[in-house]
Amino acid sequence: MKIRLARPGDGVAVARLAALAVPDPDADRQGDGDLAKGVDQRGGRHRVPYGQARILVAVDQQHTVLGMCNIHPAISLAQQHPHLGAHVQQRLADRIGELDVLAVDTTAQGRGIGCNLLRTAEAMLATRGTTQLIAQVRSTSALQWFSRRGFTFPSPNKVFAFKFEGHFIGIDALSVTGYRQGYKPLH
Ligand SMILES: CC(C)(COP(=O)(O)OP(=O)(O)OC[C@H]1O[C@@H](n2cnc3c(N)ncnc32)[C@H](O)[C@@H]1OP(=O)(O)O)[C@@H](O)C(=O)NCCC(=O)NCCS
Repeated sequence: MKIRLARPGDGVAVARLAALAVPDPDADRQGDGDLAKGVDQRGGRHRVPYGQARILVAVDQQHTVLGMCNIHPAISLAQQHPHLGAHVQQRLADRIGELDVLAVDTTAQGRGIGCNLLRTAEAMLATRGTTQLIAQVRSTSALQWFSRRGFTFPSPNKVFAFKFEGHFIGIDALSVTGYRQGYKPLH
């Protein structure tokens, strides 16, 4: 199993896998089409607010894409704190990463591919100075999977707060899209 950046040509496979992570793929069909097109045009690096998103894929020896994940700066978190000013928002987004989607083909789950993708994504972010990772999680079983891998999920009525350059930053239990979010320090 090899983990690499997505390339043009991986688009359909990446979008099909990403749909596994959303409870109602039909509702996200438009988004999937955009994702497939984006990967086929630009590969695994995409310009987003505050920096770049990276789409990683896990491929087997036959070059079949069996897993994917999408990491990017913590865009929503930075945007939720406009009072910090643009420079601090940028530094916050540089320090806090977000794992938007992680998905493994249903026929290949339980073989360590998800762990491998997460480990690679964490190492890539840590090398770039990210100190904390937020994960958006859409299913209860995945919640347990992430908890076993060091993520803490604040209960729905709680906010996790940490200090950044003298400001208190809160991470809500639910993302702006209504999914549970967990956080994990990267060492
Ligand atoms: C959550 C998800 C990404 C996990 O991926 P995965 O490849 O099945 O995960 P892993 O194989 O790495 O880990 C699964 C189990 O296999 C075990 N495992 C790890 N390496 C293994 C290996 N080489 N061989 C066999 N089992 C292994 C792990 O210990 C783990 O057990 P645990 O959860 O009881 O601790 C996958 O189930 C998935 O795509 N779910 C649907 C989408 C989703 O909900 N995504 C998350 C939110 S975006």
